[in-house]
Amino acid sequence: MNNESILDIPDSYSCVEETLQVAERILSDAVDNSKTLFHTLVVSSFDGFKISSRVMVLREFDFDKRIMRFHTDYRAPKIKQFSNESIATVIGYDPSIKVQIKLHGKVNVHYNNDISKKAWEGSTNRSKKCYSVKGGSSKQIKDPYEYDIQEYDVESGYKNFSALIFSFDTLEFLYLKRSGHRRAIHSWDNGLVSSWLVP
Ligand SMILES: Cc1cc2nc3c(=O)[nH]c(=O)nc-3n(C[C@H](O)[C@H](O)[C@H](O)COP(=O)(O)O)c2cc1C
Repeated sequence: MNNESILDIPDSYSCVEETLQVAERILSDAVDNSKTLFHTLVVSSFDGFKISSRVMVLREFDFDKRIMRFHTDYRAPKIKQFSNESIATVIGYDPSIKVQIKLHGKVNVHYNNDISKKAWEGSTNRSKKCYSVKGGSSKQIKDPYEYDIQEYDVESGYKNFSALIFSFDTLEFLYLKRSGHRRAIHSWDNGLVSSWLVP
């Protein structure tokens, strides 16, 4: 059984609300399903001059709260960017279901607080290991072998760990199929408003 049938993804869309329901199913599934490309999303930040994009693992999706959670190294450049300017976009596409989902919103950085603690406690030792790398993410180095993690105390990585909470206010759904492309925008400015767009 492929992911399309497991998630009950329709072959065509005639009702705009259905695109949001399908997006919810895709993103909820993507948290624990490493086989879908929605598990690794592209997260973009803006520092006032340039946009930076990077792939990140989706750790939590809560449709009712309209949030996503990502984990990162607190020493990474994106921390400074999101702390100064919280606007962000998140985008994913999975060709096996022909769906692109694009979200706009804001990222809040959580470091050494209840949210980061809970996220750390819910992480596997394999994930925690990354945060024990010395020197800090993105530092320029001469020899990458020196930075392979050898002996480490897994819990010591917590001091470098942070959780990013992305709160979204628009979700755009795009389905490309020869029989008829479908594009819909869902915005939560003053309650939910949904509309079709020209694809
Ligand atoms: C498949 C994949 C998954 C990744 N997951 C994460 C992640 O969950 N968190 C993270 O900080 N970086 C992750 N990265 C690395 C980022 O894409 C990026 O290179 C790194 O975070 C540095 O980003 P920055 O310089 O914009 O801060 C992942 C990369 C790949 C290829």
